[in-house]
Amino acid sequence: MEMDSIREACRSCELCGLAAGRTRLVFGDGNPQAEVMLIGEGPGEQEDLQGIPFVGPAGKLLDTMLELIDLDRSKVYIANMVKCRPPHNRDPRDEEIAACRPWLEHQIKAVDPKIIICLGRIAAGALIDKNFRITREHGQWFDIDGKEYTAIYHPSALLRDPGKRPETFEDLRGIRQKIREKCERTYDRV
Ligand code: URA
Repeated sequence: MEMDSIREACRSCELCGLAAGRTRLVFGDGNPQAEVMLIGEGPGEQEDLQGIPFVGPAGKLLDTMLELIDLDRSKVYIANMVKCRPPHNRDPRDEEIAACRPWLEHQIKAVDPKIIICLGRIAAGALIDKNFRITREHGQWFDIDGKEYTAIYHPSALLRDPGKRPETFEDLRGIRQKIREKCERTYDRV
């Protein structure tokens, strides 16, 4: 399915209780033909108001992190595990992630990225391994169904604890290296 059709179908989704509280659906952003996809947790306040993922404080840091490895939103596709804001920014519940999962699967299928970067433990736990330990396993690579998956600390965690930034910088270097190995188009014009 084309990304626009998926977005259109998702717009009227009421598969979980989060739908009732949303101002706007936060479906995805970036390049639907990207070789690299980033997957966060769920929208926060700014995202809910604007309908675009990662536009609040964590999003500003994410943009800076992308810049560090010569990427921007035109070279990646960004989505979340859940498309509607959880109340008071609580973690999305397992049943909400499960209800929203088919939308994400459609997005992954449409983009067909070579590399998937999980932002934080919630995405890593849902997409890499339910027992994923972000403190121990961030920056490692996992081959799942022919795609390369990794997880890095969520930018919100880096805002709360800047001490984690040097490790994330190393992880970003690893991501740049993996992109050079696996992707043909991403660094074309860099
Ligand atoms: N945190 C997320 O995980 N996703 C967003 O879109 C914003 C903040």
